[in-house]
Amino acid sequence: MILVTGATGLSGQVIVRELAHNDVPIKALVRSARKAAAAGLDKLPGIDAIEGDMRGGDEVKAALDGVTRVLLISSGTPDMRETQCSFIDLCRRAGVQHVVKFSGAESGIGFDPARFPFTRMHEEIEDHLEGSGLAWTHLRPSQFMQVYLREAQTISRDGELRLPFAGIELAPVAIEDIAKVACRLLLEGGHASESLDMTGPEALTMNEVAERISAATGRPVRYVPISWDERRSALLASGAPADFVDALDEQLRERLRRPKSRVHLATHEVFGIRPTSFAEFARTYARAFSG
Ligand SMILES: NC(=O)c1ccc[n+]([C@@H]2O[C@H](COP(=O)([O-])OP(=O)(O)OC[C@H]3O[C@@H](n4cnc5c(N)ncnc54)[C@H](OP(=O)(O)O)[C@@H]3O)[C@@H](O)[C@H]2O)c1
Repeated sequence: MILVTGATGLSGQVIVRELAHNDVPIKALVRSARKAAAAGLDKLPGIDAIEGDMRGGDEVKAALDGVTRVLLISSGTPDMRETQCSFIDLCRRAGVQHVVKFSGAESGIGFDPARFPFTRMHEEIEDHLEGSGLAWTHLRPSQFMQVYLREAQTISRDGELRLPFAGIELAPVAIEDIAKVACRLLLEGGHASESLDMTGPEALTMNEVAERISAATGRPVRYVPISWDERRSALLASGAPADFVDALDEQLRERLRRPKSRVHLATHEVFGIRPTSFAEFARTYARAFSG
């Protein structure tokens, strides 16, 4: 039996949909059944959404009963380490065999864990899992292509991609590609004690990202470099939590220290998955980018 956490989140929803195509019963641990239903998880074949908190409680212990493989995802929030380490301990006590940890690729590109707490937290959780005695696999994606959907309103309204990323190249990966790998790991097992980094197929400047969105929507879209202060004010005005905004600030500083992104497609190759290009991603989500 397979259990997936974080099933109502950005990456978790795509992964659960991919799993639902496989006619295998899956448990999805969710904090809110109402949120899971709003995301349509209750309509997916084979998906049993169970309410519980990853940090503990009777519900999560019952949910882990009979589970052999787990996909571990939670939010990139300041409590991520506590949440995921507590859950790993629960997995060990429940007799889970293999945990696939959804991690991040920043340590692979040299982000300094002393300067970027999310790299540090992912590394500490990976260490905790490796020391737990459970079989482990770390799935380490780069930036998700889907994060550009957060800019869809400004793109559709003003024809502008406004980010403080001048001079930075990024190699974002489609969550759909990550989902295919996660699905194979959960259904087939194997790849224990491996760290699987994944990026998209191109390192792109923001001008190139804007060009691809423009081509997909058939409307002019240009990259407008803005200052971090402007970005920070826009995020806070849109209701983003201050700790999330601070984390993005730290991430930007690390990106400016390492402005070139690598392209790493070895995981796509191992699993025989054709890498989704940003142009394809933009075409798939063209309606969202067009408002
Ligand atoms: N954004 C990127 O570009 C990127 C790139 C590489 C790696 N990552 C990493 O990917 C991971 C997932 O990112 P995401 O954007 O998919 O996250 P997300 O959208 O914030 O989703 C996180 C999920 O975890 C659930 N969750 C959080 N705390 C929980 C708890 N205590 N008990 C039960 N469920 C809990 C959330 O439930 P609710 O819906 O109830 O809140 C949600 O379903 C993060 O660790 C992030 O660091 C992100």
